[in-house]
Amino acid sequence: MFAFDREAYEKKVSWFTQARFGMFIHWGLYAIPSRGEWVRSIEQMPEEAYMPFFREFNPVDYDPKAWARAAKRAGMKYAVLTAKHHDGFCLFDSKYTDFKSTNTPCGRDLVREYLDAFRAEGLKVGLYYSLLDWHHPDYPHYGDRNHPLRNDEREKDVPRNFDNYLDYLHAQVEELCTNYGKIDIFWFDFSYGDLTGEAWRATKLVRMIRSHLPDVIIDNRLEVSGEGFGSLVTEHPSEYSGDFVSPEQIIPADGIRDEAGRPVVWEACVTMNNHWGHCEQDKFFKSGDMLVKKLVECVSKGGNLLVNVGPDARGRIPAESLAILEDVGKWMDINSESIYGCGLSGLPKPDCGRITRRGDTLYFHIMEPQITYVPLPGVPRDKIDSVRLVKSGAELPVVSDWITNNYPDVSFVSLGPDPRLPDPTDTVIRVKLKD
Ligand code: GLC
Repeated sequence: MFAFDREAYEKKVSWFTQARFGMFIHWGLYAIPSRGEWVRSIEQMPEEAYMPFFREFNPVDYDPKAWARAAKRAGMKYAVLTAKHHDGFCLFDSKYTDFKSTNTPCGRDLVREYLDAFRAEGLKVGLYYSLLDWHHPDYPHYGDRNHPLRNDEREKDVPRNFDNYLDYLHAQVEELCTNYGKIDIFWFDFSYGDLTGEAWRATKLVRMIRSHLPDVIIDNRLEVSGEGFGSLVTEHPSEYSGDFVSPEQIIPADGIRDEAGRPVVWEACVTMNNHWGHCEQDKFFKSGDMLVKKLVECVSKGGNLLVNVGPDARGRIPAESLAILEDVGKWMDINSESIYGCGLSGLPKPDCGRITRRGDTLYFHIMEPQITYVPLPGVPRDKIDSVRLVKSGAELPVVSDWITNNYPDVSFVSLGPDPRLPDPTDTVIRVKLKD
């Protein structure tokens, strides 16, 4: 009987909850049609229409070192690359398939180069591995919820041996566990309908992974998708619950807690525009200013943020994404102490913005200018040891005068005579509490 070892779990996930900020990378053959990674399913594209992309794929500009530098400059501490997405195309030199990057004109093991480059920049490395596989002959086709040929009557009576597919899935995951050094995160995607948990032979899979990579962190999608939390939020998580909940394209309103009210480790994954995989037409990018605020929101609610980039068919991260990463990095250069190792503050969200906390230090994130002074609700004056503007380290005076005397239970600080915030995106005030 599996017993969830909470102490060992907390130790294992500590680097992850310290890191708070990562890069998601969705890349593969779908970058050529450039209509997102679900193009085969959405357009019910037959294999023969997709194979030209396999024969053509040659990302001549692929430079994972440049990707890693961009992630590091943005303040990201880890990354997750699609080793295999739903289309079944493998970005690594698997011996179990010919449908892999080393058999395309590019001839490269893209995963290995990514891992080497991101480790060299000091980032933790993760691999996304799709449980779905629209290329494998033994994955369900007709009648499946997502397969490109789900409605093709010609597929109706074609025999499929799902056990063969599971053997393939487990063998490939073991390749990734044993041929590429220490992997820090396995990001599976996704369970649906009856395909959940033991339908994937999840216990056997997780035991194999953890036998090779005892410290690896696994997401919760052997049980659910971006919808649902899985057994990690219950009193008795399953052996394949995973180590974090993975809300997708949303930040949970109140963070995530388990049945006992304990904060649960979670990571929100979001796109920069509206597609995971490259989409030439999708120019609806979130700004750096917005992503800074969303990162602060995640951390203030006890979570991580995984921001996606979708490199193009040449292997280039879109210029818009690089510019956004630079903007986020400029803010992180000055304020990352209010992100790394921070989390829930235990205080209500203030009107002016948000609060993150690390031990006896509170970070007030002022996102809206205040009239005269900045209130620090929930912080009694006699508990304050020091107040500093993170941007410069300057002392901020705690003030009380006829303007504030009506609110003796609230501490106020002055940012000076200028009504504009020192950083209009998010001005961070460090409040160190007395022991
Ligand atoms: C959804 C999409 C998948 C994407 C994932 C990222 O599961 O189906 O394409 O990789 O979200 O979380």
